[in-house]
Amino acid sequence: MLQTLQQLPPDPILGLSAACRADPNPHKVDLTIGIYMDEQGVCPVFEAVQIAQHAMIAEETTKAYLAAAGDERFNTGLQRLVLGAGSAALQEGRVSSIQTPGGCGALRIGAEIIHAAAPRAKVWVSDPTWPVHIPLLGSVGLEFHSYRYYDPGSRGVNFDGMVSDLKKAVAGDVVLLHGCCHNPCGADLTLSQWNVIAELAEQQGFTPFIDFAYQGLGDGLEEDAAGLRLLVSRLPEVIIAASCSKNLGLYRERVGATIFVCNDAANARAILSQAQSAARRVYSMPPAHGALLAGRVLTDDHLGGIWRTELTAMCQRINGLRSDLRTALEARCGGDYAFIEREKGMFSFLGLSPAQALRLREESAVYMLDSSRINVAGVNAGNIEYIAESVAKVL
Ligand SMILES: Cc1ncc(COP(=O)(O)O)c(C=O)c1O
Repeated sequence: MLQTLQQLPPDPILGLSAACRADPNPHKVDLTIGIYMDEQGVCPVFEAVQIAQHAMIAEETTKAYLAAAGDERFNTGLQRLVLGAGSAALQEGRVSSIQTPGGCGALRIGAEIIHAAAPRAKVWVSDPTWPVHIPLLGSVGLEFHSYRYYDPGSRGVNFDGMVSDLKKAVAGDVVLLHGCCHNPCGADLTLSQWNVIAELAEQQGFTPFIDFAYQGLGDGLEEDAAGLRLLVSRLPEVIIAASCSKNLGLYRERVGATIFVCNDAANARAILSQAQSAARRVYSMPPAHGALLAGRVLTDDHLGGIWRTELTAMCQRINGLRSDLRTALEARCGGDYAFIEREKGMFSFLGLSPAQALRLREESAVYMLDSSRINVAGVNAGNIEYIAESVAKVL
């Protein structure tokens, strides 16, 4: 039976990162995979997480399964972080959430619920979107349409195109939005544009599904949540896939949650029961370690304070790198790279062709995706001039 299956090509992102690791060139630079790296090129463990981990190991008395919905402390802490402690929807009790294995698990559980509620729902995704969205949501059986989003000419959001496409989304459809720090393009909506999206959702009746994987890495925890909270304040239903991979550095621990903002408290309870049943079908129980750590950090004032300071420093460093990269590229290549500074989060398209991205890999061991998406957090003081010089060579 197994012999009928063929070898698959490497994953477009993970495959390139693996190729970079195997590359013997001492100057190699990995700008492929979306993980934060510090000046030393290390993806660090937050100090707040370390402290929580020491305490947890000392206090832990069991490794029994968590509840199907996950750790309550974590779920409560994350709801407050995402929606804001004063959220009216939270106070009205019309929010429920399930702890999931990372943001990917959250997207998948969201997709399961959408499919259960509306098997023919069309999911509108931005063009471009994170490539993993399609297999992750599509494997549930949902159908996709795309809406215009990134305009390579202006290197910003084609908002008129987005609005005109979303006017075709109807009640029963779902619009997948990047809550902040758009992956892959880094171009985010302004608050007034979020307002227009809220109006459109009201008029057309579609349900927003917000992928929220980078809260705190754009402008700050509160600022990055402003668009999402605006939608939640105006609409009866919003689905959110939140991840703690990036903003708590818990990548391998697989920590996330699907948050359902529902019409009323009874529906929030019903949806939670559906989500638990979906999780039971897919992976049964969520992993505990990372969520227990995140729960401690998010609900403890002292640890939370340490974490917020660390996250702010991370965010400021990324924004500093954006400005340094702009300067280095403009100095070496000429042209206008101001867009890198305007964008948010870890990603940016450098605007190179796939052939130029290939030459960068082959001639300089500078690894980026074929689309020329780079992880800005892979840049550091030691490689920035080399990156700019290598880009200038292929232009
Ligand atoms: C846009 C987007 N959504 C969701 C995720 C989910 O990540 P994880 O499952 O590691 O939490 C990622 C991770 O790279 C992402 O870039």
